[in-house]
Amino acid sequence: MINPTQQKLFSAVQVGPFHLSHRVVMAPLTRLRSEQPGDVPSDLMAEYYGQRASKGGLIIAEATAISITGRGYLGAPGIYSDEQIAGWRKVTDAVHAKDGRIFLQLWHVGRQSHVDMTGGVAPVAPSVVPYEGVAYTSNGWVPVSPHRGLQIEEIPGIVEEYRHAAERALAAGFDGVELHSANGYLLDQFLQDGSNKRTDAYGGSVENRARFLLEATEAIVSVWGGNRVGVRLAPSGRWASMSDSNPEATFSYVAEQLNRFGLAYLHIIEPRVKGSEVTEDGLPPVASEHLRKIFHGKIIAAGGFEPSDAEAIVEAGDADLVAFGRHFISNPDLPRRIRLGLPLNAYDRTTFYGGDHRGYTDYPFYQEAKDASSTQVKPSRSNNAEGQQSSIGPVGNLRNHDLSVAH
Ligand SMILES: Cc1cc2nc3c(=O)[nH]c(=O)nc-3n(C[C@H](O)[C@H](O)[C@H](O)COP(=O)(O)O)c2cc1C
Repeated sequence: MINPTQQKLFSAVQVGPFHLSHRVVMAPLTRLRSEQPGDVPSDLMAEYYGQRASKGGLIIAEATAISITGRGYLGAPGIYSDEQIAGWRKVTDAVHAKDGRIFLQLWHVGRQSHVDMTGGVAPVAPSVVPYEGVAYTSNGWVPVSPHRGLQIEEIPGIVEEYRHAAERALAAGFDGVELHSANGYLLDQFLQDGSNKRTDAYGGSVENRARFLLEATEAIVSVWGGNRVGVRLAPSGRWASMSDSNPEATFSYVAEQLNRFGLAYLHIIEPRVKGSEVTEDGLPPVASEHLRKIFHGKIIAAGGFEPSDAEAIVEAGDADLVAFGRHFISNPDLPRRIRLGLPLNAYDRTTFYGGDHRGYTDYPFYQEAKDASSTQVKPSRSNNAEGQQSSIGPVGNLRNHDLSVAH
C-alpha cells in the first residue's frame, strides 16, 4: 500500500478560485433519476451527491440538458426551467454542507435523440450522416429519430441556450460549469469530421469545426468568468460512431484555442475507454500526456483509471487531477478508500441507468462495508468489476439492458 502521506493524489491543488485538498474527482455520471415530468433534480439525487462529497473534493454533476431539444434520455435532469434551479439547489447545498465543490455539466445531445424527447421536432446535428444510436424514452431504449442539419442562422440560438443554462447553474449554487464536448454529443459532432460535413463557417477546416465549441465556451465564460468553467473533450473518442480523419490536429487545435479563456481545467477522456467500457487496446493514458504540452491550465484525466495509475499520472505530471466514473458509483467514500488503500465495492451495471435508491444511494461506506460482503476490485485495468455480483440486487427500469451508454 502507498503511504498516504506520499500520495500526490492527496496533495492540495488550486482549480480556478478553489483550493482543493485532494485530486480525486467524481466524473459526470448520468443516472436517470430525476423527477418526471419536468427533469427536476430529486431529493434522492441530493442524497446521492451529498454522500459522494468530500472536504475539498470536486464533483462534476451529471450531463444536464440545456433545452428541451437538447434532451436525449428520459430521467436525465435539466437546467432549462426555474423548477430545476430549485431542485439543483438541494444538490449543491448537500455538497457544500460537506465542504465539497460541485460543477454542473452542460449538455446538448444533438443527433443522439428521439422526437419523444425533443418536443416532437427532429434532433439536430451539424450534418445529416447516417447514424444508428439509441435514445431512452418512455418506451425504453429506442433507435434515434432521423436528424437534420442545423441552419447556420440557428447556431447563435443554441449558443444562447448554453448561456442561459450557465446563468441558471449560477442561480442554483454551483461552483462552476463544465461544457460537455465529448462522447459524440452536439459539440463533439461539430468538432469531428466523421459527423461534420458542413461547407459553411462551421465545417471543413478544424478552425471552422471548433467554432461552435469556442462560441459556446465564450458564452458561458461571459456568465462565470473563465476560471470557473471547464471543458470536457474525448480525443479520438469512438463512442456514438464518432471519428475524425486527424484527431491529433483537431484536438491539439482545440486545446490551444481554449488557452485564451483561462479555464478552471480541461477534462480529457482517454481513448482507451469507449463510452464506459475499457477497450482492448490496453493503451496508456496518451491523450492527457499529449494535450498537457499544449494546454496551459489544469488537466483532469479520466477513463479507465485505477487508484495506482491515477497516482502515477499525477506523479508523472501529465495530469493534475483524475476523475473516476464507475468506482465513484459504487464507492460513496472513494477518496477516503483510495487514500487509505481500502478495498473498493464492486459496481452493478444493471442499476447504472434509472430506477430508485437501489444501486444508487445504498452502496456502503467503508465502515458499514466491513461486515457486509463487499467485493474488492482487483487493482488491474483488465480486471475491473464487470459482471461481478455486488451485494446490491439488480433493480430499475433499465434492468438487464446490456448497452453501455456514456453521456
Ligand atoms: C453510468 C455512466 C454514466 C455516464 N454519464 C456521463 C455523463 O453524464 N457525462 C459524461 O461526460 N460522461 C459520462 N460517463 C462517462 C464517465 O464520465 C467516464 O468518462 C467513464 O465512465 C470512464 O471512466 P471510468 O473508467 O472511471 O468509469 C458515464 C459513464 C457511466 C458508466
